[in-house]
Amino acid sequence: MNKKEAALRLEKLRQEIDYHRYNYHVLDRETISPAALDSLKMELFRLENEYPDLITPDSPTQRVAGKPSAKFKKVSHDQPMISLHDSFSRDDVLAWEERNRRFFGQPLSDDYYVEVKLDGLAVSLRYENGFLIQAATRGDGRVGEDVTANVRTIESIPLKLRDLNSEDLASLGLEKSTNQLLKDLEVRGEAIMETKVFTKLNKAYAAAGKPLLANPRNAVAGSLRQLDSKITASRHLVFYAYDVLVKEPKRGEVLKTRVQADKLVNLLGFKTPTDNKQCFGLQEVFNQHDKISEKRSRLPYQIDGTVLKFNDLSLWDKLGVVGKAPRYMMAYKFPAEQVTTRVLEVSWQVGRTGTLTPVAHLEPVNVAGVIVSRATLHNFDEILRLGLKIGDTVVIERAGDVIPKVIQVLPRLRQGEEKEIYPPTNCPRCHGPISRHDGEVALRCVNDKCLARALHQLIHFASREAADIVGLGKKLSAQLLLAGLVEDISDLYILDKPALLSLPGFKEKKADNLLSAIRARRNLPLARFIYSLGIRHIGLESAAAIAQTIIPRSVQSKITPLELQEKLKEISIEEWASLSDVGPVVSRSLIDYWQNKETVILMKKLTTNGLNLFIKEQSEAGPLQNKIFVLTGSLEKLSRSQAKKIIQDQGGVVKDHLVKDTNYLVVGADPGSKLKQAKDLGVTILLENEFLKLISFIE
Ligand code: IVH
Repeated sequence: MNKKEAALRLEKLRQEIDYHRYNYHVLDRETISPAALDSLKMELFRLENEYPDLITPDSPTQRVAGKPSAKFKKVSHDQPMISLHDSFSRDDVLAWEERNRRFFGQPLSDDYYVEVKLDGLAVSLRYENGFLIQAATRGDGRVGEDVTANVRTIESIPLKLRDLNSEDLASLGLEKSTNQLLKDLEVRGEAIMETKVFTKLNKAYAAAGKPLLANPRNAVAGSLRQLDSKITASRHLVFYAYDVLVKEPKRGEVLKTRVQADKLVNLLGFKTPTDNKQCFGLQEVFNQHDKISEKRSRLPYQIDGTVLKFNDLSLWDKLGVVGKAPRYMMAYKFPAEQVTTRVLEVSWQVGRTGTLTPVAHLEPVNVAGVIVSRATLHNFDEILRLGLKIGDTVVIERAGDVIPKVIQVLPRLRQGEEKEIYPPTNCPRCHGPISRHDGEVALRCVNDKCLARALHQLIHFASREAADIVGLGKKLSAQLLLAGLVEDISDLYILDKPALLSLPGFKEKKADNLLSAIRARRNLPLARFIYSLGIRHIGLESAAAIAQTIIPRSVQSKITPLELQEKLKEISIEEWASLSDVGPVVSRSLIDYWQNKETVILMKKLTTNGLNLFIKEQSEAGPLQNKIFVLTGSLEKLSRSQAKKIIQDQGGVVKDHLVKDTNYLVVGADPGSKLKQAKDLGVTILLENEFLKLISFIE
C-alpha cells in the first residue's frame, strides 16, 4: 500500500471505528463485536506506525473512550481513569518489558502481579471518613457519570468501609497511624454481571420480544444507567476492586505493593478475583496467563485476558504514562475470535449432493491463533443478506473448530472498486447445469457424473459413521477417481491389487491394507448403508429410522442393494412422511432418490460387485449397553444434548432424575443437588474426564 492509499484507508478506518465507538460508549448499542473492533484498531495502529506523519489528533488511537451520556450528573475524576495498552502475544509482552527496561535505564523489577481482566464496566468509588459518597463511571476518562444511587444497590460494595483493627494493620505491615488515611480513599474496579445472570436476563428479554444484550458488559452499562435503582438492584451486579488510591504523598509510600493493596481492599470489605497472583519473571507470568485462559470457561464471569502490573507501586510514578495508557501495566488479551479482513475472491465449492457453497477467499488473518484464509458464506441468499461485494472488509468469526464464517460486512469502508458477486450459471467443476429446488436456498449441480460430487460421495461413503473403510480418506479417494479406477462407490468392491500397484505411492502393504479394509465391509448393516449413500437430508438418525420401520424385522436377514431399491421405490410420499423425523422435504428427497434411474444402476452394480446388506445392526454391546445415566452440572467438552445422544447411541439410557438403579451420575461444573443424592444412593459418580473415557471420547 502506498502513502496515498494508506491515507485513504486510515481516514476510512478512523470514521468506521468512531462510528462503532459512538454507538457502543454513548448509545449503549453494539454495532460490532469488541474483538472485531480491536482488529480494526490494530490495523489502524499498524498503519499509523508505518506512516506516523499521517496520525491526526482525532484518531481513535489518541483518546480514551466516548463521551458521557447526558442523562446523569457529571463527575470529574481527581485522577484521570486512563486506559490500558493491549498485547496479544508473548512477543508483545516481551517487547513491553524491553521498552520499559530501556526507558527505565536501570535494572527493572521482575515482581509482577497478574490479574484477570474482567469484562464489565469501570467504576470509581469515593469514600470519605469511611462512607461511600460517590460512585462514577469512567466516561471519557476525565469526566464520568454520577451513578451513586444505582451503585449503592450493588451488595458487594460496602456503603461503609470496615474498620481495621491493629491486627489487620499488622497483617498488612502498616503503621497504626495510617488508619485515618485509609478512610478517605478511592477504590476503582469493575462492575460485572455474572454469566448465569446475563443468560437469564437475555432469556427474559427474548420472551418479552426485546432485542438481546450483546454481552455482559453492555448489560452492566444498561443496568447502571437506569433512572430507577430498583432495576439496577434486580440485575445483581457484582463489583471487583482492582485499584485503591489513598491520599499519600506519592504512590508507593504508604501502600507498597499490589499484593498488599488487594489484601487491604479485602479487609475493607471488597471482593477481588481469587485468580490474581504474584509472579516472578515473565515465564511465571505466562504460565499464570495460560492457566487463567484454560480456566476461562469455568469462571462465573466473562474475562477477556489478564492485566500484568508491576507489583512494586513505587515504580508506577517512575514509569509513568505513555500516550493515554500507563507503562507500568498492560492488558494481555486472549486471542480474538472475531477479526476483520478483506474478501479477495469468492469461489463455489461442489458438495456431495451437488450443493454449491460459496467460499470467501480472504487476506490471511490470525483468528484465535489460527491463520485463516477462507470462510464459508453458506449460500447465495447469505451473500445477499450480508450485502457482500468482492473487496469488502468483513468481520469473520471462528468458534472452536468450526469453519470460519463471515458474519458482517463493513460497507462504510468501501472505496468504490468493490465488485458485485453473481451466482454461477454452471457447475464450476463439470460445467453441467445447475438448479435451485423449490423451497431451498441452495444452488445444486444436477449432473450425477460430476467429478466433484463423486469425490464427496466417495469420501462420505468411506467415513466412519458410514461404511467405515479404514484408510480411505480424501486424498486416496481423489487418487482413485482421477486415475479412473473408481467412478462410483460400487467400483471399490472390484478394485484389484495390480491396478492399485500401478498408482504412484502404492506398495504391496498399502494395497493389501486398502483391499482388506474394503473386504471387511462387504456386509453392511442396512442403516449404515442407507446413510452412506449420502441422500440429501438423510442423516444417521433418519437412516436408522428408515432401516427399522420400512423393513419389518421378520423378512429375511440379508438383502441385496437391488432388492432394497425395489422395495423402497414402491413407498409413497405419504408413507415416507409418516416416519418420525421425516417431513415433506425429506420424503420428496427419498422419492427422488429411490425412483431415480441412476440409483437403479448403482444398486445393480453394487449387487453384482458383491455388496450385501443385513437388516439387524449386529449387536456391539459396549460398556454403556442398558446402563442408566443421569447428568448434572455443565460439561465443558460436550453439550448436554451431545452427551445424551452419545449415551443413547451406545445403548445407554438417560434419565432426568436419580432412581435406585441409576448406574452413573455424570458431574460437570456447578453440579446441583443430584451430586449429594447420588452419594447417598451409592450411585457411581463420573467426572467429565472419566465419562469421556467411558464413551471412548478420549484415551
Ligand atoms: S487496571 C489504567 N485491572 O480494563 C487503567 N483494569 O481495557 C487501569 N479492567 O478500563 C485499569 N480488569 O475497566 C485494571 N484487573 C484489572 C482490570 C481492568 C478489567 C478494565 C478496566 C479498564 C479496562 C481497560
